[in-house]
Amino acid sequence: MSGPRIVGFGGTTREGSTGEQLIRAVLERCARGRASTRLFAGAELAALPHFAPEQPERSPAQRDFVEAIRAADGIVIGTPGYHGGVSGLVKNAIDLLEDLRADQRPYFEGRPVGLIVCAAGWQATGVTLAALRGIVHAMRGWPTPLGLTVNTVAQKPFDPAGALADEAVRGGVEELSRQLMSFVRP
Ligand SMILES: Cc1cc2nc3c(=O)[nH]c(=O)nc-3n(C[C@H](O)[C@H](O)[C@H](O)COP(=O)(O)O)c2cc1C
Repeated sequence: MSGPRIVGFGGTTREGSTGEQLIRAVLERCARGRASTRLFAGAELAALPHFAPEQPERSPAQRDFVEAIRAADGIVIGTPGYHGGVSGLVKNAIDLLEDLRADQRPYFEGRPVGLIVCAAGWQATGVTLAALRGIVHAMRGWPTPLGLTVNTVAQKPFDPAGALADEAVRGGVEELSRQLMSFVRP
């Protein structure tokens, strides 16, 4: 029998995006728990046209993203704190999920959503996490009890080889993955 499907999206278009690396780290741990995983990182999200509700046409990239979330058993969202909130890149992808509104299982209904926020200061990590939790609640999802926040100035989560180097962040990644996997109902 195949394992749960976990889909992650987010990070930034910046080379070496901390958010992207953290989503990857969570997905890797889910894969060790027999999940099949997929990541939509900054470049893929940047290829999504600006969502416009009155426009029914969808690009292949938009359809691919919507179908992946529709089929997901668990979701991971990672955003930077930009001006005290969720980045436009990530919010545009979330807004596209309006296409799931009329589904039998709308939006994120019944599924765990692991949340990751990276910002250059503690204040933005906190307010952005609160905003992201509000979005997931509005979309009927279940944010994991742990929201992983990383201050990318005060913490250096990865070494130059890309391995998790910060003990506290590694613990957060492990716990977020554990909570996500313990809640999925494939
Ligand atoms: C346009 C922009 C706005 C930002 N706004 C904030 C902010 O309000 N507060 C903050 O702490 N960091 C802010 N930052 C810093 C980013 O949140 C931080 O560099 C984060 O680590 C970026 O994520 P990444 O490492 O995945 O690229 C901002 C960065 C950019 C480019």
